[in-house]
Amino acid sequence: MAQIIPVDVFDYVVFGATGDLTLRKLLPALYYRFRDKQMPEGARIIGAARGEHDDAGFRAMAEAALRQFITNGDLTEATLTGFLATLFYVRLDGVSGEGWDGLVARLAPHEERVRVFYMATSPDLFGAICGNIQSHGLVSAQSRVVLEKPIGHDLASARKINDEVGQIFTEAQTYRIDHYLGKETVQNLLALRFANSIFERLWNADVIDHVQVTVAETVGVEGRAGYYDKSGQLRDMVQNHLLQLVCLLAMESPISLHADAVRDEKLKVLRALKPIAPYDIAHATVRGQYAAGAIDGKSVPSYVRDLDHDSVTETFVAIKAEIRSWRWAGVPFYLRTGKRLAEKTSEVVIQFRSVPFSIFPREMTDFEPNRLIMRLQPDEGIRLEMMVKDPGPGGMRLRPTRLNISFEEAFNTRYPDAYERLLMDAVRGNQTLFMRRDEVEAAWTWVEPILEGWEAATEPPRLYPAGSWGPTSAIALIERDGRTWHEEFE
Ligand code: BG6
Repeated sequence: MAQIIPVDVFDYVVFGATGDLTLRKLLPALYYRFRDKQMPEGARIIGAARGEHDDAGFRAMAEAALRQFITNGDLTEATLTGFLATLFYVRLDGVSGEGWDGLVARLAPHEERVRVFYMATSPDLFGAICGNIQSHGLVSAQSRVVLEKPIGHDLASARKINDEVGQIFTEAQTYRIDHYLGKETVQNLLALRFANSIFERLWNADVIDHVQVTVAETVGVEGRAGYYDKSGQLRDMVQNHLLQLVCLLAMESPISLHADAVRDEKLKVLRALKPIAPYDIAHATVRGQYAAGAIDGKSVPSYVRDLDHDSVTETFVAIKAEIRSWRWAGVPFYLRTGKRLAEKTSEVVIQFRSVPFSIFPREMTDFEPNRLIMRLQPDEGIRLEMMVKDPGPGGMRLRPTRLNISFEEAFNTRYPDAYERLLMDAVRGNQTLFMRRDEVEAAWTWVEPILEGWEAATEPPRLYPAGSWGPTSAIALIERDGRTWHEEFE
């Protein structure tokens, strides 16, 4: 049975309170924390934005969003009423300073509380908002700031944001969100590696042939085209989510779960990533863009139709990454992620080396190497693919089968959304699942030459039909090395 650990009374100030992230993710996450009685009596969520609303108007907006996004019966009228009463609204302009007196008045009576400023806005506003927080005297001893990704557009802009925020908040007060770290199954990578002795001994180049990380989505860019077209899949997903997964998979054992102990080890992985040289870009990376196709039997338009103008922004990325360390030398990490792919699925595949020599008759054996598959979403669980003897007569016939742990069957419980954990961790002051400044900058340092290589390239992204697994060149990327992307066997 899950245990709810109480947190101190807090004021959550959310900038960008009427935006998509707040309505779709933050408010539902806070609703669940309220429902599970983790929000202490008196805790407040103060939405701040430019729109002309009052508390009642903001509550009505929040109610509509909760009714839309919590559809599984978890929304009850009594809990909803209680939760809405914790919401307040302040109309202000994050940059100009207009309306800030209203926020000062709201916060003033509770100077002693944990105060979390959540930046659910465009990153170019982070510096100005933090400046206003300071000039209005709102930085208290118990204040923290949460920065939503993307932190910048490249290394220089990330540094600028980090410098601006860093003038007001210390690193210990700064919580950079990568919501993948809040996912239960992502945290499970830590449990799998460091709470079991059997895997860690095998976790190296002697035994592992290669690693695959796939984060596939069926959604296109829908209402986010403006942001996405300036960003693309490399900045939107690889620079943060996929590299964070690589860190957890590849890092050495931290000396404890303390935030800096974990982040020191992740940083070493990011710094050990082999830079992809300009002459290697075409060989080690693939960028794609979805063309018209079908998802779940329904036709969907191309990316440029979704945008309504031409674009060379990538909606798919595949990369062969390498880590320069004794543990991982010679073990490629193949990464792929894209929009409008065949399925929504995120998984990590650790493929072990093949047996060095077979004593079994070749004609009776369809040898598959062992694979450890960690399914992050959906159908969360862990599988170990292994060879067994086919039962019955007919000689020593072998076939692959799997040991399968389905978390749904094992635990029969709701998986909290990643934001629930992270929002409460910021109140608790636990930074373990947040990115440190040097991590974000090291990730940009690795990603930037790829962006530059693509910008310099004359070839546009390869088109792939919506509903497929990406451009054929992504298959070639791995098959050139005599390997294939993982597919489930029946
Ligand atoms: C976000 C990206 O960070 O993650 C989105 O900006 C993406 O483009 C989303 O769709 C995927 O998150 P999840 O939790 O649905 O895997």
